[in-house]
Amino acid sequence: MEARPLIIDCDPGQDDAVALLLAFASPELEVLGVTAVAGNVPLELTAANARRVCELAGRGDMAVYAGCPRPILRPLETAAHVHGEDGLEGANLPAPAMALQSRHAVDYLVARLMASDGDVTLAALGPLTNVALAIVAAPAIVPRIREIVIMGGAIEGGNVTAHAEFNIHTDPHAAAVVFSAGARLTMIGLDVTHRAIATRERVAAIRAIGRAPAQTVAGMLEQHLDDPAGRHGGGGAALHDPCVIAYLLQPALFETQSMRVEIETEDPASLGRTIADRPGAANANVAIGIDAEGYFALLTERFARL
Ligand code: BDR
Ligand code: CA
Repeated sequence: MEARPLIIDCDPGQDDAVALLLAFASPELEVLGVTAVAGNVPLELTAANARRVCELAGRGDMAVYAGCPRPILRPLETAAHVHGEDGLEGANLPAPAMALQSRHAVDYLVARLMASDGDVTLAALGPLTNVALAIVAAPAIVPRIREIVIMGGAIEGGNVTAHAEFNIHTDPHAAAVVFSAGARLTMIGLDVTHRAIATRERVAAIRAIGRAPAQTVAGMLEQHLDDPAGRHGGGGAALHDPCVIAYLLQPALFETQSMRVEIETEDPASLGRTIADRPGAANANVAIGIDAEGYFALLTERFARL
């Protein structure tokens, strides 16, 4: 089977780092490039963290591009209180030796997608600023994207406010561009990721692998074992972003439903909400169920390969 070409847009971020490692461990995927966006921490750190993780996976050859340093209209509000000041608390990784590409991530996305024949998938693991700006700059990329699989949103609830999830809330205007672009979209939101909890037992299984990448993953996830229950999961980290990669590898781990999803960009009280109860044609395939045991079994099996 030919590997599926993939570009990963991310804001590492602990769970982004785990998602990158899962992709690198999986021969079914060919990671073409990694684009960084401001989100969990400022761009300078996400771009450095993406490279730290590539090197950990033995992929110092990977092309990493820095994109947008801030959301389109809103000021950047990071999540350093979750991921640590450097974005990868508990990872204990050295500064990267590999260079950042000189090209802007948005230019790279446009050029790579225009050069493709419709086979490239985008994994969007952070605020959608880079992806939205690529669509605005070159709408002709839309029909060339095989699928955009997004970690973001929630049909019910939120994790930064009662109604909004971090990635969509950080740049709701970018999300509005992406969700209305007409691309084939899959949304994996808190409805399933809050059921994908890295419990003590699951983290211990990853720690027991003993190899450096697995130790790094365990080190980051152990930071959250005693988190109080609530917005960020509780009793362990909600392992959001690797769900996107797991969906590409084993879609049967997820139950999905076709829905119309709109983004709230006006009302301050529900800014960034992914609204799924309005009439209109479906524009997204939304994850509504997850086999969490199967998900962690996949992660553990793959990290033993790195
Ligand atoms: C999302 O927000 C970030 O903090 C995580 O990396 C994930 O992409 C979860 O709401
Ligand atoms: Ca992320």
